[in-house]
Amino acid sequence: MAVELKVLFVGDAEPDVKLIARELRRVGFAPTWQRVETPETLRAALLREHWDLVISDTSLAGLDVMHALETTRFAAPDTPFIVVSGRLVESAGRQAIQAGASDSISKDDLGLLGPAVVRALQRTPEVGSIAQLLLATQELERRRIARALHDELGQQLMALRLMLESPHDSAAAIALVDQALAQTRDFAIELWPTVLDDLGLGAALRWLASRHTRGSLAFDVAVEGVPRMAFAVETACFRIAQEAITNIERHARASRVEIALRRTGDELELEIRDDGTGFDADAAWSRARGASIGLFAMRERAALAGGRLDILSQPGRGTTVRLRFPPRSLR
Ligand SMILES: Nc1ncnc2c1ncn2[C@@H]1O[C@H](COP(=O)(O)OP(=O)(O)O)[C@@H](O)[C@H]1O
Ligand SMILES: [Mg+2]
Repeated sequence: MAVELKVLFVGDAEPDVKLIARELRRVGFAPTWQRVETPETLRAALLREHWDLVISDTSLAGLDVMHALETTRFAAPDTPFIVVSGRLVESAGRQAIQAGASDSISKDDLGLLGPAVVRALQRTPEVGSIAQLLLATQELERRRIARALHDELGQQLMALRLMLESPHDSAAAIALVDQALAQTRDFAIELWPTVLDDLGLGAALRWLASRHTRGSLAFDVAVEGVPRMAFAVETACFRIAQEAITNIERHARASRVEIALRRTGDELELEIRDDGTGFDADAAWSRARGASIGLFAMRERAALAGGRLDILSQPGRGTTVRLRFPPRSLR
């Protein structure tokens, strides 16, 4: 699941914003942004609403990066500030870091932006491993949900409270309560699918499939006599299936997905197989770490729970994500 990120971009070039947004999407963020060009619009935007991040270009006439940094420190002191600079003005980036900017990235090295953003949001000095990145991503997700709880559910309850304080139309009040109930259900499911606790992994996989079934994508779920297993194993299977399905929806152009959960000998095996485009899995693994964060995160999750993840795929031949747990990790 992509992490929503609200970015205030200071600069005069829309193409740069597009490039930066693309880079953010590549590392798993879902950015929305607004671009400002003047000190006044920057200050106004910072005072008007919350931003997760300010990204400032160095090459803007009329608003230099130090001015943008000062304005941000003044109007929204806690908001991380990252400088993206052209090659000729990298010294401006260094100067900004000395003055309190979170980081400075060169436009020629945009691949460093993702880790810099995670670091800035976490205020941790180093995001070295994928495990750390995964953890950081989870924290960001929590932040997003915490904010949504506050902004959306909180707002609805506040509106209800105001309504109840004076003579009111009870149909309108009931409508608000219904809205808040639906919202609560969505938040709960997003946080944790209780079906996994209540009915176990097989039922949770069926539930997942039903949520993603649509006209052009059919699921077949086969579960063979699998008992309840260690919490870590069930959770890893579920989250990996979720991520695999997200990848299928995003990349595979598949029409059919088969999910199979079974015991083979003493091992537990979960397979998620699609009939889509396939891809060069070896190349994806050997690509610079960070380029396939989703795949690495799946593998890391499997390893943390004591299992092993393999991806069998070739262009034109569909993809199988196979997860195996040896007996000792199941208890
Ligand atoms: N089921 C799939 N079918 C086709 N291509 C896939 C599939 N899963 C992954 N890929 C390819 O592997 C790449 C890396 O996947 P991932 O690390 O999850 O990154 P992301 O989903 O953010 O692009 C994807 O960009 C895509 O090209
Ligand atoms: Mg992915």
